[in-house]
Amino acid sequence: MSAGEGGNGSEDGDERDGGESEAVAEAIAVRRELVDEALATRLPVAEPERLYRASRHLLDAGGKRLRPVVALLVAEALVDVEPLSEDYRAFPTLDAADDARSEDASVDDTRIDVMTAAASIEVIQSFTLIHDDIMDDDDLRRGVPSVHHEYDLETAILAGDTLYAKAFEFMLDTGAPAERSVAALSALARTCTAICEGQALDVGFESRGDVTAAEYLGMIEQKTAVLYAAAARVPGVLLGADAETVEALAGYGLDVGRAFQIRDDLLDLTAPAERLGKRRGSDLIEGKRTLVTLHAREQGVDVDGLLGDPGAVTDREIDAAVERLDAAGSIAYARETSRELVERGKGRLDALPDNEARARLRELAEYLIDRGY
Ligand code: IPE
Ligand code: IPE
Ligand code: MG
Ligand code: MG
Ligand code: MG
Repeated sequence: MSAGEGGNGSEDGDERDGGESEAVAEAIAVRRELVDEALATRLPVAEPERLYRASRHLLDAGGKRLRPVVALLVAEALVDVEPLSEDYRAFPTLDAADDARSEDASVDDTRIDVMTAAASIEVIQSFTLIHDDIMDDDDLRRGVPSVHHEYDLETAILAGDTLYAKAFEFMLDTGAPAERSVAALSALARTCTAICEGQALDVGFESRGDVTAAEYLGMIEQKTAVLYAAAARVPGVLLGADAETVEALAGYGLDVGRAFQIRDDLLDLTAPAERLGKRRGSDLIEGKRTLVTLHAREQGVDVDGLLGDPGAVTDREIDAAVERLDAAGSIAYARETSRELVERGKGRLDALPDNEARARLRELAEYLIDRGY
């Protein structure tokens, strides 16, 4: 396996303090289960059954649920409550928390369903994955056939569209006052527009040999980081955080979200399908521009000539390509860039109260670039 990238998750995580990564792993696992419960009840199989089964296909297959976990942790950090001490479906707002602290008799007891907002973000994630697999011609996702392979192209397009619309229905249903609901819906809508723009750039870059690192970073901000930004922003909006804090939260999402995508690109090169649940080497086969291949091109590597016939690529060929990229220093370069982004993202959390949930958000930022799948 290539140097600097490690052969599996535990090697990749060896820079972390064991206790720290355990705490964040536990924080993710507990919240993931709660998100799964919410998704199961809120997205039942209705008629036409085939459409709803296709819509649930990837949700049922698994997924890390990292974005909704970010949303839930942000809510806990912001309102400064003990982790898991509050019902996510009836979460106290900042107004209520402030009033309670000042023992004001006119306590605003408005409660917000932040779980449904978090589920909305994950439903957008599922929608983008279904359509992404069509665009990227990928037949494996979350360890199962992608939706257009398990069903058919028409059903996959509609399943994605259904989830896209459902996410807005969910976001309308948080119980927030009208003004905050509109702000959350607006954030979600702008996020979806940006994702489409980013995905269009991603596809367009495949046929260009002169894409720059700055263009790549802009593209991944749009296709990927904006959803992390929405996950961090929306609880701020719904719970009544001030504008400065909301922007800091969104900034955290943008930084760690870009780092997350760089890690995704690295895992595409190195993680076996059994672990990743996606085909290894897909980006090279598809001619995707990533920070790794852009850097390698600058070092004189013929990145478009790394693999032979795209229809018959072997693991051995991918190994050889990864060795070339590693030898050019491109894997180390991408890793370093992701680390810088994570550091910056962690700094944005200074806008939050100093508490346990904030500590988990800092660790989660590290986890995003150390994860093995
Ligand atoms: C995959 O996201 C899509 C990208 C933006 C790279 P994840 O790696 O979070 O996928 P799941 O949700 O855990 O399957
Ligand atoms: C995905 O980027 C971005 C979105 C899903 C919007 P990738 O194409 O790299 O994601 P994977 O690797 O297929 O999950
Ligand atoms: Mg893809
Ligand atoms: Mg893609
Ligand atoms: Mg990828």
